[in-house]
Amino acid sequence: MTHPHSWWQTGVIYQIYPHSFLDSNRDGIGDLSGITSKLDYLHWLGVDAIWLSPIYPSPMADFGYDISNYTDVHPLFGTLEDLDTLLHQAHLRNLKLILDFVPNHTSDEHPWFQQSRSSLTNEKRDWYIWHDPAPGGGPPNNWMSRFSGSAWQFDEPTGQYYLHLFDVKQPDLNWRNPQVRQAMYDILRFWLDRGIDGFRVDVLWMLLKDEQFHDNPMNPEWKPGDPPNTRQIGRYTEDLPGIHEIVREMRAILDHYGERVGAIRQVVDAYEAALPQDAWPNWVLGNHDRPRIATRVGREQARAAQMLLLTLLGTPTCYYGDELGMQAIPIPLELMHDPKGKEHPEHSRDPQRTPMQWDSSPNAGFCPPGVTPWLPVAGDYHTYNVAVEQHDPRSFLTLVRTLLTLRRALPALSVGSQQSIDQPNPNCFVYLRQHSDQRCLVALNFSAQDQVVTLPGQGQGRLLLSTHLDREGPIPLLELHLRGNEGLLIDLEAPSLPG
Ligand code: GLC
Ligand code: CA
Repeated sequence: MTHPHSWWQTGVIYQIYPHSFLDSNRDGIGDLSGITSKLDYLHWLGVDAIWLSPIYPSPMADFGYDISNYTDVHPLFGTLEDLDTLLHQAHLRNLKLILDFVPNHTSDEHPWFQQSRSSLTNEKRDWYIWHDPAPGGGPPNNWMSRFSGSAWQFDEPTGQYYLHLFDVKQPDLNWRNPQVRQAMYDILRFWLDRGIDGFRVDVLWMLLKDEQFHDNPMNPEWKPGDPPNTRQIGRYTEDLPGIHEIVREMRAILDHYGERVGAIRQVVDAYEAALPQDAWPNWVLGNHDRPRIATRVGREQARAAQMLLLTLLGTPTCYYGDELGMQAIPIPLELMHDPKGKEHPEHSRDPQRTPMQWDSSPNAGFCPPGVTPWLPVAGDYHTYNVAVEQHDPRSFLTLVRTLLTLRRALPALSVGSQQSIDQPNPNCFVYLRQHSDQRCLVALNFSAQDQVVTLPGQGQGRLLLSTHLDREGPIPLLELHLRGNEGLLIDLEAPSLPG
């Protein structure tokens, strides 16, 4: 990278699921004023930007990812003025604010869809993807919803099916229609004019669908119990040619506003796809769709995972609560909200959407005592919460905050080059981050046993941080001893390693 780096490259993004951050008005649901009241915490933690999952008016069939008005705020979360206040207060603390942009589908309650479904000749008919039944009747092809069942819904009044690759209440927009594109780009401009710093773009890679409506191949490796969205291979519904052109159009709008974050890539799922030469990586350990990291790998190993996330080249996104080591908790069926979870309880996304744990008071400080939070609070919140962990020098929170502080202080970590170091121990991952003469070594033990790493060089480094938070200072490099699940961040003072 020779060009100077933008904030969205050097910074760390913190993802807030608005429902679950802080309830300020006693209805058991998080809201914008709640977020505003916790900006000092985020500033203290040391993140650079906040990404809000959708806050727009929505019937909440998919918890805000089904939008009925793109240019307003859902009354559950507050008002446009509350959002302006949040933005203003965030900027006072040097925090950027990123909104979730959901271009693939609207809610079926959006006025566009209401018009579109009203008649075959309505001017908005072509804004969505309508199709006649198959010749013998039934859905036009085999495309499946990522939540459950066919992606086609028959609409009695006009005798055609509409496409919904997600919930039946999330009809897909027709991005081949230039009016749709313009309308969606106007929405970006609306928020940019208000001062929003950028967007996380939802399921960008699904915006275009095969014009011939070919059947998708079934996934031969799928077995009962696997997530419903892996049953089919999305050959004719995902990553179609033309999507990059849309990304460029979005990027051009953002560029017009200066240093805003672009539609870089969908921040989450599509990452594994190979990145082009000049693309900037982004990394996540968890989000509102994936089980929490501390549940997947355990709290011990999650510490090493945090070191990985916050020392890799690229922009990290921290999912709210992961900085505490919050666990995903089982949610009984009768308390489940997620439309995917109601159909397939074992794949419910509610367990990773539970209320943020602020302190040891009832409801973990998320909402006042006596109020029922929209999802239950994890049972171990007395131990894992902000107030308790802030005062514990070895807590998960202290580890994450220290990593964020070091990342900010050391350009090698935020913008430096990255090189993996060959070493014989398969349980460990070692890499070097370098910026001019500053060199940092990261050594991670992803096993529960003690491990020794032998490095191709000699000399001594200075241990800046162990994920156990119990040692620092000079450390010999030839044989690096790592305890179970330990990660080390080492400043290479002496030029001891090649490369
Ligand atoms: C993305 C979101 C997910 C949502 C879906 C439909 O996958 O991350 O939460 O259900 O898009 O908008
Ligand atoms: Ca509330």
